[in-house]
Formats: sequence, C-alpha cells, structure tokens
Amino acid sequence: MIKSAAAGLGFFILCGPAFADEAALKAQAADLVARYAQALKTALGGAMEKDGPMGALDVCRSAAPKIAADLSTSSGWSVARTSLKPRNAASAPDDYERKVMESFNARIAQGEKDGDLVSAKIVEDHGGKVFRFIKAIPTGEVCLTCHGENVSPELKQKISQLYPNDQATGFRVGDMRGAFTLKKPLGTSTP
Ligand code: HEC
Repeated sequence: MIKSAAAGLGFFILCGPAFADEAALKAQAADLVARYAQALKTALGGAMEKDGPMGALDVCRSAAPKIAADLSTSSGWSVARTSLKPRNAASAPDDYERKVMESFNARIAQGEKDGDLVSAKIVEDHGGKVFRFIKAIPTGEVCLTCHGENVSPELKQKISQLYPNDQATGFRVGDMRGAFTLKKPLGTSTP
C-alpha cells in the first residue's frame, strides 16, 4: 500500500509537469476550436439565410480559410480543417491526420458519438516536438445541402466547377464530415 503510494508519487513527480503542460495545451486548442466552430457557424448560418446555398457556397469558399488563417496568425498555432473525403484538395489530411480520423470512424462504428471524439498528443516531427489536436466534426442537417446525398443539380454543377476533385458529398447525419486539426511546435528536442 505504502509502496504503491510512493511509486505513484514518483510517477507524479516525473510526469506531473509534462501532464500539466499537455493539459494547458489541450485547453488552449479546445478554446481555439470552439472559436473557430462558432465563427464558421455564424458565417454559414448568416449566408444561408441571406443568400441561400448558392451564395453560401462562396462564403464557405472564402470565409472558412480566412477564419482559419486569422486564428492561426493571432494564436501562433496552425488551425485548419481536414477530411478523409475533402472538397478542397488543400484540406487533404497528412498521414497522422488520416490515421486519427480512421480511428475516429472505427470508434463511431462501435457506437461512439462523433461530437465527442478528440485526440491530443505530443508527437515527434522532423526532429522536433509538436502538439497535435484533432477533433471530429459531425455532419448535421444543415450540412446536407452541400455535403449530403441529394445535392441539387444547380449546386452540384457550381461545386464541381470550383472543386473538380470534390469528394465531399454523400454524407448522412451522424457521419464524421471531417476534423478540426491544430498544431503547435514545441521546439526541437535534444538528440
Ligand atoms: C453552402 C454550402 C455548404 C454548406 C451548407 C456546408 N459546407 Fe462544408 N464546405 C463547403 C465548401 C465550398 C467547402 C470548401 C471550402 C474551402 O475551399 O476551403 C467546404 C469545406 C468543408 C470542410 C473542410 C474540408 C474539405 O472538405 O475541404 C469541412 C470539414 C466542412 N466543409 C464541414 C461542413 C459541416 C460540418 C457543415 C454543416 C455544419 C458544412 N460543411 C456545411 C460548402 C458547404
């Protein structure tokens, strides 16, 4: 009993600060994601109401990358979205993002809710350490207009003009549409 408590304390002393840093990074990332999601929701909702889906398409095209760029500049993080079936080829995942999203899909198949799926880890990247935070984006009803199984022919035509390699249709409510993906470099590790 005493022995295991002492071992536990040793573990805490060795690993405590790293955990604390990781918890702080995770909280920062979660806050950035909340701000990003809120800004997207406001931009998309406003445009759908004012201009309908055809106008909202242009807003998604220009506003979404700008919101991500502004958040990245002001926070020092890299803030973006990705998907296993991207619309914009620039949002295609790297190997790490692909693996995390595949594991999310496996968990959804086991009955977990996609709104709760988060991965937060410090990983090695080109000799440096990087904190990576990935949070699943669920498909909601409003998303189906542009990402669902029955996108109107008019909208479909415009989407394929703008995104000739679009893969982001055929989604249903409850599917993971993609993920928020955040990165923060933590400096180089000593070899
Ligand atoms: C009015 C049409 C429209 C609606 C509605 C819409 N999107 Fe999109 N979505 C787009 C367009 C256009 C892009 C490509 C933006 C770009 O060029 O970066 C996109 C891109 C994305 C991406 C980035 C990855 C990729 O595929 O390029 C995600 C994730 C995404 N949408 C999720 C959603 C979710 C979740 C909803 C519902 C809450 C939604 N979208 C509703 C048009 C729409």
